[in-house]
Amino acid sequence: MEEASRHGKESCIGPFLVIPQDVNSSIDSNPTSIDESSNVVLRYRTPHFRASARVLVPPMACKETWTVGWIQACNHMEFYNKYGTKGMSSWELPDLRDGKIQAISDSDGVNYPWYGNTTETCTIVGPTKKDTKFTVSMNDNFYPSVTWGVPVSDSNLPQLSSIRRDQSFTTWLVAINQATAETLVLQTIRWRMQLHIEVDPDKPLGQRATLREPVAQEQPHILGKNEPIPPNAMVKPNANDAQVLMWRPKTGDAIVVIPPKY
Ligand SMILES: *[C@@H]1O[C@H](CO)[C@@H](O)[C@H](O)[C@H]1NC(C)=O
Ligand SMILES: *[C@@H]1O[C@H](CO)[C@@H](O)[C@H](O)[C@H]1NC(C)=O
Repeated sequence: MEEASRHGKESCIGPFLVIPQDVNSSIDSNPTSIDESSNVVLRYRTPHFRASARVLVPPMACKETWTVGWIQACNHMEFYNKYGTKGMSSWELPDLRDGKIQAISDSDGVNYPWYGNTTETCTIVGPTKKDTKFTVSMNDNFYPSVTWGVPVSDSNLPQLSSIRRDQSFTTWLVAINQATAETLVLQTIRWRMQLHIEVDPDKPLGQRATLREPVAQEQPHILGKNEPIPPNAMVKPNANDAQVLMWRPKTGDAIVVIPPKY
């Protein structure tokens, strides 16, 4: 099956074998925790998304180098912080928001296209005489800070009234030939993180925020049919460097509070 996607090239590596029951993915069952210890920002920590896969690479006849690991892209991002009747701040990915791209890389910003280079990838250098077996794993969660006061004002007056977040990701288990860039998609996972925190800014610090539904996250879906990796999921910039913080007042024009890093 994988052979079909190899464009009829002479194969040095036996067909990749990824045992389906050995690809695991879940989002931890603990709810998002909220930290009100700072009088400048509210912090929250979402449960972790996790993925792991046991991979078996059959003996390789040739002198080839393959890296197997996880690549992740963000497909959708809504991340709004409401400040009563004043307006809202929002983290946005302009090209994704405007439909110019389908997905944006969620790489660590160093090891493109990979999500990371510790547990997330494994590199096999051929020729090898025996099966090579290993596990690659990754995890992701959000741990942001949101100012209690309106971001564009000098006032520290707490006005934050709610936080809403809805983000979707695709995570691929991929094998890439280092010399030819030949790419095999071995598994595709889709997942989503949704969050709603209600805030009463008039209450004392420590008593303001309440987590609303969904308290538990929808579990990831391991797809029965792989999806191709869109080009922007493989290259710079990543979501961290491309995101902008906007202030969107109830009336008047939007303001860029934090421009993109790249
Ligand atoms: C997948 O989960 C099962 C059951 O918890 C576990 O036995 C197995 O080792 C896991 N596999 C991987 C690759 O993490
Ligand atoms: C991971 O990437 C960093 C940054 O490029 C590099 O310094 C480090 O040596 C790499 N680690 C491994 C295990 O490849």
